[in-house]
Amino acid sequence: MDTSTGGATRRRLPPALRAPFEARTWREFGHLMLGLPLSSLYFAFALTGLSLGAGLLVTFLGVPVLAAALAMCRGFGAVERGRARMLLGTEVADPEPVRAARGGALGWMVAMLKSGASWRHMLYSLVHFPWAVFTFTVSLVFVVYGWAALLYPLWFWVFPAFTDMPGLQLFQNGDHTFYLDSPLRIALTSVAGLLLVLVTPWLVRGFAAVDRGLIRGLLGPSRMAARVTELESDRGVVVDTAAADLRRIERDLHDGAQARLVALAMDLGLAKEKLAEDPQAAARMVDEAHGEVKIALQELRDLARGIHPAILTDRGLDAALSAIASRCPVPGGVAVSVDLPERPAEAIEGIAYFTVSELLANIGKHARARTAAVDVWRAADRLLIQVVDDGRGGAQAAPGSGLAGLAERIGAVDGVLIVDSPPAGGTRVTAELPWRVRPAGPGGPGGRR
Ligand SMILES: Nc1ncnc2c1ncn2[C@@H]1O[C@H](COP(=O)(O)OP(=O)(O)OP(=O)(O)O)[C@@H](O)[C@H]1O
Ligand SMILES: [Mg+2]
Repeated sequence: MDTSTGGATRRRLPPALRAPFEARTWREFGHLMLGLPLSSLYFAFALTGLSLGAGLLVTFLGVPVLAAALAMCRGFGAVERGRARMLLGTEVADPEPVRAARGGALGWMVAMLKSGASWRHMLYSLVHFPWAVFTFTVSLVFVVYGWAALLYPLWFWVFPAFTDMPGLQLFQNGDHTFYLDSPLRIALTSVAGLLLVLVTPWLVRGFAAVDRGLIRGLLGPSRMAARVTELESDRGVVVDTAAADLRRIERDLHDGAQARLVALAMDLGLAKEKLAEDPQAAARMVDEAHGEVKIALQELRDLARGIHPAILTDRGLDAALSAIASRCPVPGGVAVSVDLPERPAEAIEGIAYFTVSELLANIGKHARARTAAVDVWRAADRLLIQVVDDGRGGAQAAPGSGLAGLAERIGAVDGVLIVDSPPAGGTRVTAELPWRVRPAGPGGPGGRR
């Protein structure tokens, strides 16, 4: 009950009188107090790193030193963003990360030196220090003197004879010493203190607002840069998409539907041979061929709409690969083993599917194998596919052929295709794809690529 009355009273107070007691004021004041020690640290490290790095730049050593100094300033920035979140109630997003065009330490250093965000962090570490000295001093003086003067009557009353003096000695001019000891002077001191106490929150608020601006402007993501990269990549994507779509349809046709049609032609060829001697077997084969045609048609239809075969989209790699393996004309059958903790990203799954499809089509067409096996598994951040047969071997990727197309398709996602097919016999094709997880949410399976 007490608190509610207190709250109501406080709410009825005008903001000017309420401000000195508000938590926000004290949080912001805390922010300014903490700002000085932290900023001196940032300043010392940033200045040392910068001057050392710049001085050493004539030798190559300057580059790593500068890069390290910039990385350190980014760390300071993270602390400052956290501080702003907790004490100023301001959420500032992380700046764009440093993207190295090439791997390795050198690529990282170059990217760090080229990143505008890192230099903005360095600038913050340097310019925030003088500002922190100013705000720290001014706000501390205001708070201490304000409250001290406001409460002056109290401590004058408690300690009237603390020293031999009858009160605060304001100044001494020759023989004349001015004491705050008369009731009027005491009252005036207290009024002056009250004014200071009332002004301080607004001063603190103003300082905090500048701090917020500095943190947003120098430690957040640069809006222009973000927008420019976004637009650039949008334009690139538009230009690339048409060409890439054509390539993809060409590859999908080759590795998917065309492989189905090859199998179909083989089935029909066998059926033709059997027709005279064993019409029943021939009829069975024609029946199978009929099923094959339906699948090929469905695949063509899917392809034209730019989506993966339904069985892959709905049931994943295991089911889809088992289906194509069962249609592969190898006498001993094709063993399929898919060992994945979860489904990979759609694009990767599609490439894995079409890779196996083309490799099995090759086995059917060229290998004359007795058995074959398909293995798919995940190793760290790679998806590995291995298709093995015990056929005649000697597979070679000729330009424009299926294997070359596969290598290109896999290379486009930073994967590799290794064909090991000695003339003595046996073929082992290994494909390594990057493992990308499927983004969660409604856009998941079944969407367009
Ligand atoms: N598993 C295999 N066993 C034996 N030889 C193979 C095997 N796979 C491919 N080859 C040989 O390697 C060659 C190249 O294969 P590739 O898939 O690149 O072309 P293709 O199958 O002949 O044509 P496309 O795939 O364009 O229809 C084939 O012509 C074949 O001689
Ligand atoms: Mg081929």
